[in-house]
Amino acid sequence: MKRLVIFASGSGSNFKAIYNNIKDQKIENAKIELLVSNNSNSGSVSFAKNNSINTFIVNQKTHPNRSAYIKSLNDRLLSCKPHLIILAGYMKLIPKEVVEAFKNKIINIHPGKLPEFGGKGFYGMNVHNAVISSQVNSTAVTIHYVNEEYDKGLTIHEEPIEVYKNDTAESLSKRVLSYEHKLYSKIINQIINKVENE
Ligand code: GAR
Repeated sequence: MKRLVIFASGSGSNFKAIYNNIKDQKIENAKIELLVSNNSNSGSVSFAKNNSINTFIVNQKTHPNRSAYIKSLNDRLLSCKPHLIILAGYMKLIPKEVVEAFKNKIINIHPGKLPEFGGKGFYGMNVHNAVISSQVNSTAVTIHYVNEEYDKGLTIHEEPIEVYKNDTAESLSKRVLSYEHKLYSKIINQIINKVENE
């Protein structure tokens, strides 16, 4: 059984898609061990609670001291022995100490092309607004490894998506999300199938 940890900040539609795809065996022999969130009021945290998934909340309030926060997060992650850590709409930077402790084990999904539509401030709707403003005719879903900088780790897969002439940021975000929900699970399944069961 492959152990997964999910990080999510918001509504968590990607998290829910991953959960459902595990149930449907589109992600094979996997279990979500933990949901980490900075936002205790998020849809992702309530979904985790309703589905008996352990949650761990980390933010300035719960962990005002940086080194205590890093130790506590790293200890909690280590105790899960994750085969893969999956950022699914997680809007905070992963500290470099955590990246180092889980080298090549953390992946992220980004709703646009990288590096053009990535980096600090480029998340969620901001990405789609920037894509519409720049009048490009294609965008992407990008899945990449996570390093200590926003959206800078090695790309695993970039799926091109057409931008229609009459698209708004909202219509584009809906279409991109529907790709994310299928594609992320497919890539997660490929990655965990390559790692040893231990
Ligand atoms: C998704 O579109 C995800 O790609 C994006 O936030 C949204 C979260 O939606 N992530 C980023 O922008 C990361 N830089 P969700 O909470 O419904 O899964």
